Amino acid sequence: MLHFDNLEGYRDAHTYDTLNGLSEVEEKFYVDLANQQGSPILDIACGTGRLTIPLAQSGFHLTGLDITAEMLALAKQKAKHANLSIDWIQADARGFELNAKYKLIFTTGNSFQHFLDRESVDGFLKSVHKHLDKDGMLAFETRNPTISVLQSNETAEKDYADTWVDNEGYHCSSTYQRSYDHQSQLEHYTFTNRRWKDETNVVETTEPFAIRYFFPQELEELLYYNGFSLIKMYGHFDKRPFEANSPLMVCLCQKRDG
Ligand SMILES: C[S@@+](CC[C@H](N)C(=O)[O-])C[C@H]1O[C@@H](n2cnc3c(N)ncnc32)[C@H](O)[C@@H]1O
Repeated sequence: MLHFDNLEGYRDAHTYDTLNGLSEVEEKFYVDLANQQGSPILDIACGTGRLTIPLAQSGFHLTGLDITAEMLALAKQKAKHANLSIDWIQADARGFELNAKYKLIFTTGNSFQHFLDRESVDGFLKSVHKHLDKDGMLAFETRNPTISVLQSNETAEKDYADTWVDNEGYHCSSTYQRSYDHQSQLEHYTFTNRRWKDETNVVETTEPFAIRYFFPQELEELLYYNGFSLIKMYGHFDKRPFEANSPLMVCLCQKRDG
């Protein structure tokens, strides 16, 4: 569907890790869920272990799965440094076979929005279904598709983050432009990344990226037809009810057929 590798932004795992912290409310949401469900736990599209590592530190048995070698390499390094035993697996979330069952399977960082078409969503949900314990829970969040927000400010160039210094000592900045395609429900980004040590020699690269939006009823139906019941949808990790202007759809799902 896309004519580019939608993973390019994850090759620089250090930058991802620097720019993406973990809020207390998100950590609490997942620690509470882990306490309720118990181990083993599978973190799909785990990235640099933003959630995998704190959950392992809380005493749970974690497996982290991701497609990008660079993200997994940094996750492994961080876990080793923290003296944690976590299973790391490089695989595609849209179709994997681990020969294990989990009490909790989750995907965070809006990773669900990386499944751009129905085949990808079905592949992910079928794989989760196969690996979820009878009483297991699937948890994930995806941004609320508020049409007025998606269709606004489409041409404006915005800062992605404050300027930062990468692991090679370069100053970095990133801006982006975005647009929303109503038919495919894809939000397209063009990032312009700048890197310099000396301000007279700034190297500029551009990077395309896309994410999918899902509407609430569509999501419930995708889950249903892949064997899940959507048992709860919150508007945020603080468990406020989902409403039209909520930032997120935080979903808790169980197997329909046990
Ligand atoms: C936004 S990051 C989220 C990382 C982590 N869950 C977090 O919350 O920080 C998205 C992650 O999804 C991974 N990813 C994208 N497509 C994937 C796929 N088909 N299978 C497995 N991982 C995938 C990327 O490599 C990246 O690490």
